[in-house]
Amino acid sequence: MKIKTICCIGAGYVGGPTMAVIAKQCPHIKVTVVDINEARIAAWNSKNLDHLPIFEPGLADIVKQTRDKNLFFSTDIDKAIDEAQMIFMSVNTPTKTYGKGKGMAADLKYIELCARQIARVSKQNKIVVEKSTLPVRTASAIKSILDNVGNDVNFQILSNPEFLAEGTAVQDLLNPDRVLIGGDQSTEKGHEAVQALVDIYANWVPKAQILTTNVWSSELSKLTANAFLAQRVSSINAMSEICEKTGADVKEVSKAIGMDSRIGPKFLNASVGFGGSCFQKDILNLVYIAKTYGLNEVADYWEQVIIMNDHQKNRFSDNIVSTLYNTVSGKKIAFLGWAFKKDTNDTRESAAIKVADNLLSEQAEIEVYDPKVSKERIYADLDYLKTRPSEENKTLLTVKTDPYQACKNAHAIAVLTEWDEFKDYNWESIYNSMQKPAFIFDGRGILDKQQLEKIGFAYYKIGSSN
Ligand code: NAD
Ligand code: UGA
Repeated sequence: MKIKTICCIGAGYVGGPTMAVIAKQCPHIKVTVVDINEARIAAWNSKNLDHLPIFEPGLADIVKQTRDKNLFFSTDIDKAIDEAQMIFMSVNTPTKTYGKGKGMAADLKYIELCARQIARVSKQNKIVVEKSTLPVRTASAIKSILDNVGNDVNFQILSNPEFLAEGTAVQDLLNPDRVLIGGDQSTEKGHEAVQALVDIYANWVPKAQILTTNVWSSELSKLTANAFLAQRVSSINAMSEICEKTGADVKEVSKAIGMDSRIGPKFLNASVGFGGSCFQKDILNLVYIAKTYGLNEVADYWEQVIIMNDHQKNRFSDNIVSTLYNTVSGKKIAFLGWAFKKDTNDTRESAAIKVADNLLSEQAEIEVYDPKVSKERIYADLDYLKTRPSEENKTLLTVKTDPYQACKNAHAIAVLTEWDEFKDYNWESIYNSMQKPAFIFDGRGILDKQQLEKIGFAYYKIGSSN
């Protein structure tokens, strides 16, 4: 079966870029991305490409080439479902905040709503693709809804988890390490469905990198990949604390172990802690799944990755307080960066949020500069924690659009995101504008220690005491 029409439900960080790349690489396919969030769809349709809802290097260019040709953004979900032969579900699957599994299990209400809408609207056979990250065996729940609510049309369900990382989404989509497709190949219809999706990716991905498995392996591989990646960060962060006590330097340790081809050099940067919308939620989800099967040792093993990450964020703010003579009350601390990593405007679970919250509880005054994150977003992130009234957050924390202004009169600077531009600042002029002694706490290890110490800064970085 040759696919000519695709609908993607969910125009977020995954749905938007993924579908833009499919549209670019498959000009013969009409791709419609739909969402219930009208503002988001309006932003995807905005004339000024600087106003797209998501910042990703290279994305605006692809949207410019494809939008209103074979890529469409719409709020008319029913119409897009009806027209499509293949429907991707790319809605959010956050951690549950209520009821059974609260704080751990994935909240599947958005997925279920999607499935019910697809079932209600579809009058012809459809291939339904799980693009969202889902607990293993979710496909059977989706199938049950589709088959029991539907209009007696045939639904084939595939799992096609997304492995893109934010900040490099377009590159990751254009040159993926692999594309994973899970499906039931034991039936003719199942086999056809898998093949239809393979054929779409084969327009630009070498066949050898398109991996097909059964549905459960595919669903579980996504959670496993994120768990392994997050575990690497927690592992190197655990070593960073030992480095600080012993005179070892975590950068040197990373390099030394990364040259072992069995370990590999990537994803070994010690940091103030991993953030992002998925690592924590997916590991918690995995822990919950393990617990529901009674696999308590497995659950404890993976939970430790989160415990270590929380510790890393807390010890970063603790170190700022203790170094600033055990009090930051009334002191100004400049934050460079708020996003959870560079080259994205996404702040979900960013370490900066927790570090700021800890310091605000110590009555510090914070001024934040981030090249891509809006003031509204920063306040929303803090208010979400409900640690103190919103007015107090606004009084204690201000957001600057100029990094030099943010650092002026500060007692200390904390680097929370590894934005490249931070390396090129005029650090001498920043030093001259600050209170003395002027401290820098480099949560990403990106600044030049020698240069900064020569200027006069007291420089601290994660994973080194030298
Ligand atoms: P997101 O919150 O940015 O986008 C999800 C969108 O779905 C929202 O715009 C929301 O309004 C929409 N939505 C929810 N329910 C809907 C419904 N019933 N009908 C129409 N629209 C609906 O989320 P995201 O970051 O794109 O993540 C989506 C999924 O992909 C999650 O499961 C996530 O774990 C997974 N994932 C995310 C990333 C990433 O880098 N962000 C990478 C790989 C996988
Ligand atoms: C991650 C995975 O890398 C993607 O493969 C996956 O698709 C995605 O999660 C998802 O499922 O959402 P993402 O969170 O966008 O992607 O970004 P990463 O590059 O993985 O970084 C995650 C966090 O770990 C960031 O806060 C980053 O700063 C931190 N990190 C990463 C480190 O502290 N050290 C490292 O060496 C690498």
